[in-house]
This record gives sequence, structure tokens and C-alpha cells, in this order.
Amino acid sequence: MKTSIGMTVTEHILEKQRENPEATGAFTRLLSELIVATKIISREVNKAGIVDILGYAGRQNIQEEDVQKLDEFSNRTIIERMCHIGQLCVMASEENADIIEIPSRYPKGNYVLIYDPLDGSSNIDVNVSIGTIFSIHRKTSSHEDGTLSDVLQPGYKQVAAGYFIYGSSTMMVYTTGEGVHGFTLFPGIGEFLLSHENIRIPERGRIFSVNESNYNYWSDGVRRLVDYFKSPDTKPPYTARYIGSLVSDFHRNLLKGGIFMYPADTKDPKKPHGKLRLMCEANPLAFVVKEAGGYASTLEKPILEIEPEELHQRVPLFIGSKEDVELAERYVRGELGLGSNL
Ligand code: AHG
Ligand code: MN
Ligand code: MN
Repeated sequence: MKTSIGMTVTEHILEKQRENPEATGAFTRLLSELIVATKIISREVNKAGIVDILGYAGRQNIQEEDVQKLDEFSNRTIIERMCHIGQLCVMASEENADIIEIPSRYPKGNYVLIYDPLDGSSNIDVNVSIGTIFSIHRKTSSHEDGTLSDVLQPGYKQVAAGYFIYGSSTMMVYTTGEGVHGFTLFPGIGEFLLSHENIRIPERGRIFSVNESNYNYWSDGVRRLVDYFKSPDTKPPYTARYIGSLVSDFHRNLLKGGIFMYPADTKDPKKPHGKLRLMCEANPLAFVVKEAGGYASTLEKPILEIEPEELHQRVPLFIGSKEDVELAERYVRGELGLGSNL
């Protein structure tokens, strides 16, 4: 009988550490502790239907969005677990207006953790998959305590990024710049085991993923693009899938191919660049998709090349199969006539 349970994520990270002569184990410690935090979140998400951790926490966050109790729990869990491990100089969360400093009583480190503690939280109460997204940079400033400048780095400087999905199973997908690897949590042993080694996104997909209720608020170019994806003249045809949970929509397209879009829209004058956040959503997923052979763009420039200006800045996001995203760029730039079929 096969006794081997396969490779755990810790073994996988240690293997990468051994391959890197300058590695000190600091990164391994960081990622291992984040994994512990997400196991705690996963357990709470899976209990959510039973105990009173569902529903609205009765306040709005910096994004002026209703904060769910699980948003708060997840954010608190990550902060509590990560702030004392001595590997971070600063953190930043979608749920915190400002950077999260490491308390003076704890040792500091050379890494920066930026994260969305719970993505897709509007789906918590209806049992749809949600997740945690993370992005890791190296410190750039000279003093011990991290600063906003350590956080506001362009996506191409990330040293690692990935996400956890709390769904029918709990999965972790991450990259350190050497491919994209997926792990599935085996509850019986509490370990993430390698289940998707070297994930590659199909060059072209047949899935487009967008919230079409915003159609009338998009630019003409984006409307034309979505009309193309829906046109009966487009061969082979596309199909539409939209879960409303970025990690879930992204993960499906990563495995099956396709394009996820959250375009800029005129719906909310305070959010002219769309809803999704550069630092804790677009950048980490853009790093993952690039490492899997895909591409992420605002349609004007690659996501990873954006020089961040604000902690919570939002960007239009077109991400997925390289050919689909490049087609979207050319369509919206008007380089392709109506009905071009590529
Ligand atoms: P979060 O729960 O972290 O605020 O993220 C929600 C995001 C993202 O998960 C999803 O793609 C998007 O909101 C859905 O927005 P719409 O409901 O406007 O389509
Ligand atoms: Mn999110
Ligand atoms: Mn969130």
C-alpha cells in the first residue's frame, strides 16, 4: 500500500531554499507561518455555516465596503501570526487604511507582506469559494522599520505571490518566480500536499469572465470587446463564467484557460479605475499568471510594470491566457476591426 503522501508544501519550499545558496531560511519561515494562518482561516470558513461568524460586522472599511466578520477574523489572524516571526519589516492589508507596522517589541525582517485577507467576501454567506491573496516583496529602505516605500513597489519586483482558495477543498497556489505550483489541503493530516506541479495556463481559452451588469458603464472599446466574446461569428465560440470571487474566477481560468476582466467603469466616480486593487489583488495574480505563461494588463500597460502611487489604488484588470489578453489590448486600442476573428 502506498504510504507516501506525496510532497508537502513545506518540503517544496525547503527544496527551493536548498537550490538557492544565499537562502537563509527566512523566506521559508515567512511562508510556513502564513500557511498556518490560512489553515486557521480555512477552519473558520468551513465552520462559518455553523457558528456565528457569518454576516456583516456592522462597519465599512477603507474601501467603503461592508466588512464581513470573516474579513475581520482573517485579517486579525494574519496580523497576529505574522507580526512576531521576525521576517517582516512591514505589512499592508486590503482591510487596513495604512501600512501595518511591526510592534517595536518584535524582531524585524527583510520582507514585506501585502495581502487581501479574504477575497470574494460577498459570497461568504452563500457558500461560494472565497480566498486569501498574498504578495511578498523584499525590503528596499535602509532603516529597520519598513515604510510605505517598501510596500509601494512595482509588481515585477515581487519575490513571491499566490493565493489560497477555501472551497470544496482548500488549495494553495504560489510562485517564487520558478513556475506555479498548487497544493491541496488534506484535512486528515492538516498538510498542503502537491497536487498541481508546474501549472501552465492554456495560450488561448474559450472562457470570458466579467460582470456584465456594468456594460453600460464601460468604454466603447470594452463593450466592443465583450460583444466580440459573445458574437455568434466568433469561432470557436466563447462561454461565460462569473463567480464574483476573484480568486475562484482566476483559478478556473488558470487551469482551463480564459480571460477575467474587471474594466474601468463610470459607475462610481470614486472608483474610476474599476474595483480591484493593484497591490493586494492585481499584482500578485499578475505574477502568478505570468509564471504560468499568461499575461495581465490594464489594456494600456502590463500590470506588473505599474509604478504604484497609493496603497489602495485600483486598476482595470484583464488577466488570463496570453493570446486572449493581447487580443483584448488590440481590440480596445482599435487595432482590430469589428468582427475580426482571430
Ligand atoms: P473583496 O471581497 O476582497 O472585496 O473582493 C471582491 C472582489 C473580487 O473578489 C471579485 O472579483 C469582485 O469583487 C466582484 O465584484 P462585483 O460584485 O462588482 O462583480
Ligand atoms: Mn479581494
Ligand atoms: Mn477582501
